[in-house]
Amino acid sequence: MSPKPIRKAVFPVAGLGTRFLPATKVVPKELLPVVDRPLIQYAVDEAREAGIEQMIFVTGRGKTGIVEHFDIAFELEQTMSERGKDLSVLEPTRATPGDVIAVRQQVPLGLGHAIWCARAIVGDEPFAIFLPDELMVAREGGSGCMKQMVDAYNEVGGNLISVLEVPMEQVSAYGVIEPGESSGALTEVRGLVEKPPVAEAPSNKIVSGRYILQPEVMRVLENQGKGAGGEIQLTDAMAKMIGTQPFHAVTFDGNRYDCGSKTGFVEATLALALARADMGAEVRKIAQRLLG
Ligand code: UTP
Repeated sequence: MSPKPIRKAVFPVAGLGTRFLPATKVVPKELLPVVDRPLIQYAVDEAREAGIEQMIFVTGRGKTGIVEHFDIAFELEQTMSERGKDLSVLEPTRATPGDVIAVRQQVPLGLGHAIWCARAIVGDEPFAIFLPDELMVAREGGSGCMKQMVDAYNEVGGNLISVLEVPMEQVSAYGVIEPGESSGALTEVRGLVEKPPVAEAPSNKIVSGRYILQPEVMRVLENQGKGAGGEIQLTDAMAKMIGTQPFHAVTFDGNRYDCGSKTGFVEATLALALARADMGAEVRKIAQRLLG
């Protein structure tokens, strides 16, 4: 029997985005553009490619622009139409009525708490989570990260997280898995630890911003105290589910950019601009000139 389909995705977007201040004082981090699309658009496109229908944004103060982005901008469209401008650039921002849902996290108490805020909308079905500041870019002709995860989920069911390998000295900034048996891109997860000291890290495989979780995680989060950094951590809740349900990691075949950090954001902008047919050659020339 194939597992229940993944129809809903939660996008926690209530964080403060302090690393990008002052840019994120008024503009949410998730609306900062990489070339010409805001970060949140890349994540929603990836969700749609994976067959996900309902987009649940966990927003906070000052974040309503994210929901607006997926609404119809009537005056803009009207004016563009009158001027004979092409409206197709707005196509990805169109949502099926009723399929964009916003819930509020009043105080940013941590990623785990943000996910828990979506419990009533998620209900009793498995769901996906996207951290939009992790930009996952498919290989040319390949499928996106969540599509790869959904394909794996259809084989093994249960819970899945996407992972990637980083140099050991970097693991302390991330959630890290204790790996079990591996087969191809799939690795059994035996344990999870948030931001471990290098000497205590069980591997160099870090959790990278995409999850498929069973609804029981909401009940675990319900009773969860604060963890690393004084925040209610999703990693701690997932760690408690290991052993009670299947838990696997999928190593993404593609590129990941950490757009939560400034250098990662610049890297993503450059990489995506260089890959664009309409501007890649020009950007390459600019980069070469700047590098002397
Ligand atoms: P980050 O750790 O990147 O935090 O959160 P942040 O606030 O976005 O950015 P910095 O570190 O201050 O620069 C990871 C994801 O979890 C969400 C964020 O919006 C981001 O998508 N988040 C985090 C919440 O929705 N609520 C929280 O309480 C914490």
